[in-house]
Amino acid sequence: MEFPFDINQIFTERISVLDQNLVAGRWTARRPDLQANLATVIDELGKASAKAQQLTAAVTSASKLQTQRHQLYLLKDGESSGGRGAVMGFLKVGHKKLFLLDRQGVHVEAEPLCVLDFYIAENLQRHGYGLELFNFMLQHKNVEPGRMAYDRPSPKLLSFLEKHYSLTQNVPQVNNFVVFEDFFFNRAGSA
Ligand code: ACO
Repeated sequence: MEFPFDINQIFTERISVLDQNLVAGRWTARRPDLQANLATVIDELGKASAKAQQLTAAVTSASKLQTQRHQLYLLKDGESSGGRGAVMGFLKVGHKKLFLLDRQGVHVEAEPLCVLDFYIAENLQRHGYGLELFNFMLQHKNVEPGRMAYDRPSPKLLSFLEKHYSLTQNVPQVNNFVVFEDFFFNRAGSA
């Protein structure tokens, strides 16, 4: 995704980690103009993701990020757009208190790290960029994909999880979240 401003000036790293402070590189905190552009990038990514998932409203926006304790990993290509850089996609995660059913149908209360939104620009999908972003987050959070919960995963995300992490056996839930068998393995209160 290209923008009419310099992406490399806002996001200094290939992958930036954003939270409610909406600060990326060392300059954004002191530059309201860069912060405004950063908010535009997040809003546009949120809209593109919602469109790709055929959702009526965006799950991700700058204002939502400012009020929720979530983290957003943003991937850029610093070389494109004549050196100004372009945004390739993002992954948003956060903890949620969930009431889940284990394999035996027993209720388990947990607050796992959840995948809340995930999007790679249409023309860049299936090139391994989603995997790069996801693996970065796993390392940054020191978490296994099977220990996470997935909020209303799209068929593409389910296929992604099966291909890269061999996650196939999901345990049926009564909410919109999907968890896999590994989630309950060695978890206190269920076996
Ligand atoms: N159709 C089916 N499977 C797909 C597709 C597609 N069009 N695109 C990616 N995948 C899955 C497949 O398993 C694919 O492997 P394959 O090509 O061998 O079949 C694998 O992902 C490829 O891995 P990456 O290249 O690393 O993934 P990518 O960079 O495409 O990112 C993502 C995956 C984020 C799901 C991307 O396809 C995307 O943005 N899709 C549209 C938005 C979306 O559905 N996001 C998830 C919403 S649900 C949520 O966030 C909780």
